[in-house]
Amino acid sequence: MIADSFIQELKTYCDVESVISSYVKLSRKGKNLVGLCPFHSEKSPSFFVYPQTQSFYCFGCGAGGDIITFLKKIENIEYIEAVKLLAQRAGVPLPEEAADDNRARMKARVLEINRETARFYHQCLVSPQGAEAYHYLIQRGRTPKIIRRFGLGYSPNNWDTVMNHLRGKGFQDHELEASGIGVRAKSGSLYDRFRGRVIFPIIDLRGNVVGFGGRALEDRGPKYLNSGDTMVFKKSKNLFALNFAKATKSEQLILAEGYMDVIAIHQAGFDNAVATLGTSLTEEQARLISQYTDTVVIAYDSDGAGQAATKRAINIFSEVGVKVSILSIPGAKDPDEFLQKYGPQRFQMLLEGCANALEFEIGKIKAKYNIQTPDGKVSYLKEFAKLMAGIHNPLEREVYISEAAQSLGVAAEAINAQVGALLKKEQRSANKKEQNDTNIYIGDMAAGRGDLQRKKYLKYAIAEERIIGVLLKNPDYLPVLLERIRPEEFVTDVNREIITLITGRIQAGRPAEPMALSESLSPEGMARVSGILANAPAARSTREELEDYINILQEFYKTKTEKDVAQMDSSQLREYIQSLKDKKK
Ligand code: CTP
Ligand code: MN
Repeated sequence: MIADSFIQELKTYCDVESVISSYVKLSRKGKNLVGLCPFHSEKSPSFFVYPQTQSFYCFGCGAGGDIITFLKKIENIEYIEAVKLLAQRAGVPLPEEAADDNRARMKARVLEINRETARFYHQCLVSPQGAEAYHYLIQRGRTPKIIRRFGLGYSPNNWDTVMNHLRGKGFQDHELEASGIGVRAKSGSLYDRFRGRVIFPIIDLRGNVVGFGGRALEDRGPKYLNSGDTMVFKKSKNLFALNFAKATKSEQLILAEGYMDVIAIHQAGFDNAVATLGTSLTEEQARLISQYTDTVVIAYDSDGAGQAATKRAINIFSEVGVKVSILSIPGAKDPDEFLQKYGPQRFQMLLEGCANALEFEIGKIKAKYNIQTPDGKVSYLKEFAKLMAGIHNPLEREVYISEAAQSLGVAAEAINAQVGALLKKEQRSANKKEQNDTNIYIGDMAAGRGDLQRKKYLKYAIAEERIIGVLLKNPDYLPVLLERIRPEEFVTDVNREIITLITGRIQAGRPAEPMALSESLSPEGMARVSGILANAPAARSTREELEDYINILQEFYKTKTEKDVAQMDSSQLREYIQSLKDKKK
């Protein structure tokens, strides 16, 4: 555990505004700041930063918390690492106990193991025992330079070469097992996960080797074997070669299917290719991509599986607001083969003329209606206008509209008028949403949207949240609350977790603002706290208001459902009837 005093100190050095603005473009709005939420895709900003409470909250998706929550989420790291990152930023040394944290230490060990293993595999590849693998890569068209750049390797075809090497470097068996490079056999001993394979190291955005892919040299076992998930690696959250591609000057990223494709594309001079890691695209990966670009070129294999995967990927990208182009690869099964056969220039031409997802959509609508008839034409144009209203680049819109006008024999102005009306409507509702956002009713709070329990007990949940809000702003009201209700009596789980923590801290004389809660509270809890603060009235609440909320909450324990009554034994039932009589009096 990290001392409160240290977190307080850190807080004075790193303010939420400067930390978040290095990730999100923020503009000032009164006392607060606002920008486009980095955790979901949106076109009008609903992501707020509150310097006063040192917290952030998105009215759109309900993400929220303090700076530490923010860093955890955006960098995909643990609490302790976020604290470290902040300390680094502020240039303050970390207290001993924090650096001692077990899990963080184990993670660091696993990363060391991965790095050492990658180095060892590469050594093996360029030594005599890797001759076959090296020859394989050369024969597949890879150059020594690209082999070095990607740190490709070879895992010797034995059961314990790597284990022994790593033990010799001072790593212990439980650490080797945690890294996933050692696999525990039934007999209890460890053996090498990768044997006799060409190795592709997977490197994260901070340059850590987090996992490996391995391709078999012979037709035995699976063609590709990847690292399983470990404490430093989640397949569904990483992309191969993003560590290189993130620095590209190109405005788009190319998404390919395989390691070899990505390497071939980079080798051909396109530094913007990435691949998923043996799984189909996940929403997390799409969101990751959306942080770097708003246009992706999908360059999957030309076989049926590749085309099916393309369709899935289009849907996922549209959910996160990334525009998609589809590269069809004529005369080759995948980008690697295409590049071998036809070279980089032809590939460049493919990229430039690549079939656009939008054209695909237009084709689909067109197929739905008979545009030879006037009725068909009108229906088609209606839907077409809707599609156009979704395009935010006016130039691009104009191109498609004038094309459609020509091919249908109607005036472009007519289509423009339709699209214009739709755009206006969209703008109006966006403005309205923005207005609502600032005084949104807490019952609709985005941070509680996925919480079914909250939905079920909404009335009580809202009362709980009001109470929490009052307490966060006026800790001196705690005795008033405790006189009438105990934290355990809070009805919904997330709010109970929050109130219990806050109560404990206030009683112990410890700080209870968002940044102080970050270590102990669940991510849901943190988001809820920020939501409550973001929705709380600016003025100080009166004691009467607090009493009102408590009254509502107490109703929960007074009102029994029919089912509750049916399950009472006779003495409970008598008591209950008596209590109803008392109430009537
Ligand atoms: N893949 C996998 N496990 C398999 C087969 C494939 O994880 N058994 C993943 C790998 O990430 C691979 C990608 O799916 O890179 C694409 O598969 P495939 O087209 O078979 O691989 P290529 O890269 O074309 O393989 P190669 O050219 O080496 O035959
Ligand atoms: Mn392939």
